Amino acid sequence: MMPDARKRRVAEAAFERVRDQLDANTALGIGTGSTANHFIDVLAESKIDFLGAVASSKATEERLSHYGIELLDLNMTGTLPVYVDGADEADPRLNLIKGGGAALTREKIIAEASRLFICIADDSKRVDVLGTFPLPVEVIPMARSLVGRALVDLGGDPEYRPGVVTDNGNIIIDVHGLSITDPKQLELAINQIPGVVTCGLFARRPADLLLLATETDILEFTRDA
Ligand code: A5P
Repeated sequence: MMPDARKRRVAEAAFERVRDQLDANTALGIGTGSTANHFIDVLAESKIDFLGAVASSKATEERLSHYGIELLDLNMTGTLPVYVDGADEADPRLNLIKGGGAALTREKIIAEASRLFICIADDSKRVDVLGTFPLPVEVIPMARSLVGRALVDLGGDPEYRPGVVTDNGNIIIDVHGLSITDPKQLELAINQIPGVVTCGLFARRPADLLLLATETDILEFTRDA
């Protein structure tokens, strides 16, 4: 089965888990990327009634608007019951690397604001140790070189992502060569560097539920398992 079909199946599985929580007063958090896009498609096709969505990127806002789904402001919604999003890597503790689509900062804000974070992916994203996927870091442009040097000091090999401006007007540095055995500590260390908006490690606030599509099944992982 092609990865795209797996993404669609895992999006359907996520929808099955959230549908009972949706009613005319419920706001959903929705992430960015091809798997999150499938989730939006499934949601729209279901014609289910819900209040609307807080989107983690302009691209997601456009897709939601295309379907006529109401865009909500996180400052007005307060805590969200559920956030559904993809990831670039997930480890057994449900720590994640995110930001391949450059939306990591808004994704981290929505994850923090949500009671339940459901991460959906195909099984190629599951790893024992994070770091094979280069770690994205959103950086204020004037701090690019300063942050790059600090990332070298932390053991990484930083690479500027050319031509990418985030929805917040910043740049992305992708950090190669990391073997992330202590994700929470590294997340805190990178986030301390002046000029870093945030890094794509989701360890302080990992996923609560990871749904992974294999060729034939949907695997379900929780942090306490
Ligand atoms: C967006 O910035 C990322 O965090 C995405 O969640 C991640 O890149 C997953 O994308 P796909 O679903 O397209 O693999």
